[in-house]
Amino acid sequence: MLLKEFLRSPGSVGAIKASSKYLAAEMVKQARVAEAETIVELGAGTGAFTGLIQARRKSGSTFIALEINPNLSAVLSEQLPEVTVVTDSVENLTGILRQHEISKIDSIVCGLPWAAFNPELQDRLFNSIITAMTPGGRFCTFAYLQGLLLPAGQRFRKKLKQNFSQVSQSPTVWRNTPPAFVYNCVK
Ligand SMILES: C[S@@+](CC[C@H](N)C(=O)[O-])C[C@H]1O[C@@H](n2cnc3c(N)ncnc32)[C@H](O)[C@@H]1O
Repeated sequence: MLLKEFLRSPGSVGAIKASSKYLAAEMVKQARVAEAETIVELGAGTGAFTGLIQARRKSGSTFIALEINPNLSAVLSEQLPEVTVVTDSVENLTGILRQHEISKIDSIVCGLPWAAFNPELQDRLFNSIITAMTPGGRFCTFAYLQGLLLPAGQRFRKKLKQNFSQVSQSPTVWRNTPPAFVYNCVK
């Protein structure tokens, strides 16, 4: 499904294969999903992280999964009817939160394909994300290990440091294909 949508829209989907359960476990752990009151997933795709977030979040917490691609969000809603799936762009996060009566987010699990985005789009997305977060809130996103060797990967790391007060890196998830790690950022 992801491969099919990638072929239709490579610059937005950004990957041909969903993340592994190992990377999902690291993302959910790093984002402290189990302790969060309000969790938002960005770029949920085919749900590689969504089911685990739903399983681990505490009762009484709020969870929204955001996915821009209507074909992917339709499949996700069908597979996980208990999850609130919103078909929209992260650029509209402020309005989406207002519609769902959410004031601020304290945990973000982000699967956006940052490497496929130009720096201007990255900046617009970061503006929306930072505005929507509570101070001290966590933003977790993953990157492929080999990307660190590329200038774009280094620029993205710098951008995270400019936008967040703390940025750390998880151990490498070798069992993901390709190997990846999680950036754990605090507003
Ligand atoms: C690389 S896939 C990741 C899917 C899944 N989270 C995973 O790790 O397997 C990135 C997803 O982000 C979605 N996406 C891209 N731009 C977006 C945006 N501006 N707002 C919301 N979702 C977006 C794509 O449609 C795609 O499903």
